[in-house]
Amino acid sequence: MVNEILKNNKISWDKVAHHFNGKDALPSYGPFTQTEDELHLFDDVTNKKVLDIGCGSGHSLRYMSEKGARELWGVDLSENQITTAFETLKNLNPQLFCAAMEKDVGIPKNYFDLVYSIYAIGWTTDLATTFQLIYDYLKIGGYFIFSWDHPLYPHLKSENGRIYLEGSYQKESSVTYNHFKGEDAKMVIPTRKMSTYINELIKIGFSIDQVIESDVSASFDSIEDSVSDRYYSLHKARRFPTTMIIKACKH
Ligand SMILES: C[S@@+](CC[C@H](N)C(=O)[O-])C[C@H]1O[C@@H](n2cnc3c(N)ncnc32)[C@H](O)[C@@H]1O
Repeated sequence: MVNEILKNNKISWDKVAHHFNGKDALPSYGPFTQTEDELHLFDDVTNKKVLDIGCGSGHSLRYMSEKGARELWGVDLSENQITTAFETLKNLNPQLFCAAMEKDVGIPKNYFDLVYSIYAIGWTTDLATTFQLIYDYLKIGGYFIFSWDHPLYPHLKSENGRIYLEGSYQKESSVTYNHFKGEDAKMVIPTRKMSTYINELIKIGFSIDQVIESDVSASFDSIEDSVSDRYYSLHKARRFPTTMIIKACKH
């Protein structure tokens, strides 16, 4: 069943990859969300070895390179995303793996100063294994930063601007989309509670440095929001955090 989900999501990500070329990569943490320039979560990355989980088109890794990172590593489920990432990172000697983040594909252990993931971690079908692998990839003193939809967000629906709860936040399961980005692409995305993310990190031995429930980036300050029922909208983001961001450390 899990392998079935991964197989399907992979086919679908290959179909929709072109919609995500450079979209919402660092310094962005997600839709309407404060950026790294506003939050300053990363320590100095000069000469650091970094690993991007769900690296997509490679633009976050390029950002890391511009900030001075020495080794750029990434893993992503989609063949097409990895092909684009190689293009984006041409001449930067990236180490990129086309694989599921929940599988051990031989990425070195006790090696990285920093592992991060921008809007990808929630796709994992096995959160505990994924976090354990990330913990293992890190050196002692290394840290992990990820951003993802605020866990309540998939349950927030909107009708004429009125926001209401759909389904159950209590019951962890998954949502299935038969179309994604307007394409005939079936995607299954697990739904989890905020506490599940935090407790899984703690169970493995991470210490939590910061938990952020996003606010709207200052770059939208001059923009008036109009009522919108879109999944992501300024109207919704001004009323509820779109993104959760967690920074955790391996001691
Ligand atoms: C919204 S995109 C984010 C891309 C990238 N982090 C960025 O900053 O541009 C989500 C990415 O997660 C990848 N993905 C989905 N499920 C995955 C899995 N189980 N393992 C690894 N990558 C996965 C998709 O292929 C896609 O590239």
